[in-house]
Amino acid sequence: MREIKLLKYGWKFKKGDYPESIKISFNASDWEEVRVPHDWAIKGPFSPDNDLRTTKEGKVEGTGATGGLPHTGKGWYRLKFNLPEDVKKKRVRIEFDGVMSHSKVYVNEKLAGEWHYGYSSFAFDITEYVQPRENILTVSVDNKPNSSRWYPGAGIYRNVRLVILNPVHISLWGTYITTHLIDKKEARIDIRTEIENNTDKELSVETESVIISPDGKKVVSDTVKKSLKEKEMVYQEVFIKSPVLWDIKSPALYTLCSTVKINGEKVDYYETRFGIRETIFDPEKGFFLNGNPLKFQGVCMHHDLGPIGTAINKSALKRQLSILKEMGCNAIRTSHNPPAPELLELTDEMGFLVIDEAFDEWKIPKCANGYNTIFDEWAEKDLRAMIRRDRNHPSVIMWSIGNEIPEQEDPDNGPKLARFLHNICKEEDPSRPTTSAFNIPDSAIKNGLAGIVDIPGWNYQPHKYGKYHQLLPGKPMYGSETASCISSRGEYFFPVEEERYINNYYKRANLQVNSYDLSCPGWATIPDVEFRAQDDHPFIMGEFVWTGFDYLGEPTPYYKEWPSRSSYFGIVDLCGIPKDRFYLYQSRWAPEKGTLHILPHWTHPGYEGKITPVHCYTSWDRVELFVNGKSCGVKTKDPRNILNRYRLVWYIVYEPGEIKAVAYDSKGNTVKETTVRTAGAPAEIVLIPDRKEITGDGEDMAFVYVEITDAKGTLCPKADNLIKFKVEGPAEIVAVDNGDPTSTEPFYHPYRKAFNGKCVVYFRSIEGKKGNVKLIAQSEGLVECVASITVK
Ligand code: GAL
Repeated sequence: MREIKLLKYGWKFKKGDYPESIKISFNASDWEEVRVPHDWAIKGPFSPDNDLRTTKEGKVEGTGATGGLPHTGKGWYRLKFNLPEDVKKKRVRIEFDGVMSHSKVYVNEKLAGEWHYGYSSFAFDITEYVQPRENILTVSVDNKPNSSRWYPGAGIYRNVRLVILNPVHISLWGTYITTHLIDKKEARIDIRTEIENNTDKELSVETESVIISPDGKKVVSDTVKKSLKEKEMVYQEVFIKSPVLWDIKSPALYTLCSTVKINGEKVDYYETRFGIRETIFDPEKGFFLNGNPLKFQGVCMHHDLGPIGTAINKSALKRQLSILKEMGCNAIRTSHNPPAPELLELTDEMGFLVIDEAFDEWKIPKCANGYNTIFDEWAEKDLRAMIRRDRNHPSVIMWSIGNEIPEQEDPDNGPKLARFLHNICKEEDPSRPTTSAFNIPDSAIKNGLAGIVDIPGWNYQPHKYGKYHQLLPGKPMYGSETASCISSRGEYFFPVEEERYINNYYKRANLQVNSYDLSCPGWATIPDVEFRAQDDHPFIMGEFVWTGFDYLGEPTPYYKEWPSRSSYFGIVDLCGIPKDRFYLYQSRWAPEKGTLHILPHWTHPGYEGKITPVHCYTSWDRVELFVNGKSCGVKTKDPRNILNRYRLVWYIVYEPGEIKAVAYDSKGNTVKETTVRTAGAPAEIVLIPDRKEITGDGEDMAFVYVEITDAKGTLCPKADNLIKFKVEGPAEIVAVDNGDPTSTEPFYHPYRKAFNGKCVVYFRSIEGKKGNVKLIAQSEGLVECVASITVK
């Protein structure tokens, strides 16, 4: 009834400006053949001159601000596609999940439409431009310099679909479902279905709504007949008895199957997934999901997928979410823009709460060529597009109209624009609250912005939660951005005491940051300070840590120090390896995991006899530390001291050998032990695939963790051996990364130096190919390793 074709293969691409390529006769045979989703910039090369930030006087302000990758400039895509003979009887729509940015779409030489914001999903009706058999689609992209504060990616980086429809059909994002628990025994489901009639006749149309329960049973069937002119909304109210609720622990999903019929003949069919859940945002007691209190254990996430860039890959997204889930994370803030639709499919399925955020800028620039240049013309369209696309996802709990908007300080425009955007959210979806992340709360409160949104979010204000609670009585609130602690995985610098100050960090010659999780820029705090504020202010609904993963760009504190080109904020590094901080959050957010993690590593030649702090992140309160069998004492968490409240710290004299942490329960029984040993010389490569089996669909990926160990199997924590990878069988290496924010080695090369003993291979299946695959890792002087993966 509707035919959906994913336009993935056969695209031609060329960087530069080629307006003549819209011509049907244009010969693009010398253009690069690419698959979409495609990010033209991720292959590099890295350079400080890519999107260099300078002052008006030409002084360098930022080298790696957007990742040092070549994402600026123009680029053109071209695709031949075929349509059936009867296409003139149909409607044809082209859907883009997101194009970075300022895209123009041409079909058979005609401009079908344009969309400027790179994060919005959009679609054009191209019926009048298409013909049977061969058609030419051309897309131009224009990424301006100084338009983003992070790596935005470049090109058609999300999916594109061609949809062939009958003249009467359900509109784009045309269903809207809201659910209302009457009591635990019954839910009322309000269904709105927008139907378009592209014939010139008024028609009698039947809309059949069938609801399938999470276990696959038909629980509702309801049909409405309506006379339809051009476009009509069909309203249905149905009831589900004993509803299965969507929850983060059991994310049960229902499916609405909508069928449109004319004279008994089916003309359209469309599925919408939804969930039944109840959210309460209480200004005093915090957040409740289905009647149960729940703290946001959230992280902010940018949209890049590390070494594979921004080209969307569901398998890579799923891996990110699985790693975060393992830490106890239950919420994501899509900072600072609408995410790929696949993210929300996954958060629905995996049980995460989501703040869906629209903008990082309104009319006052943060970047000269940022969203401010299009706000007046596009803000309403972009915001409506985000909400219409996303409003059926049970995981989405709030709409964010902006992040750290400079208009907070503008008493005229600030509240005016906040009201304008807030009202659009309410028109599109009155069922969810609005929010915005404020970093200048005093101004946001004084100027009224914080009062306009339903739920203000505070960025980096743990010391002032009490004050804002008093100033805004009746408003629920939460930490929309917290911590911003910085660290490099596996980097330890001594002495550590000098960094034991909140709001401080040291710049190092090697452009790395100490991994003791005590460093953070001036506006930020260490995680512990936020934990204390959350504990002391139970009305705060939780936090969203900046950030879950490292991301490309914004290499604070080394803004100007090339080759620093990606962030240090992540709890997890750019290639998905947890940093120490992961275990600090896990110890608090997922105590059931029984965390017992010690740092630093124990291989510090030349440091013998010197004082070395050992920190322990643990879900238990009491831990004893041993150095080479000798006790260094039992430490107990102490709420009076911020550095002992959530972590345990010993200062001990370094001697090679081993350190062992032993955790005790309240009765003094040993519950867990962890040992870290001094490593010998690098001897072997170890490969640890995260999965043994992947699907041969050309999308599914396995992530193979690579470690360099000594002859006894101990990780060599400083090893930087160059490792070369080979694949035998039906799969390909798409990237290798080591999480080093200063590396300019290209991600797509099948070799890489280890960073502090580790790296990760991103390994993808090839569409239609199956069989056994071997990944071989070799390095001079090390015993090689082979990992086997089956492609099914
Ligand atoms: C915030 C901002 C984020 C990021 C962060 C780094 O002020 O909203 O986008 O820049 O700081 O700490």
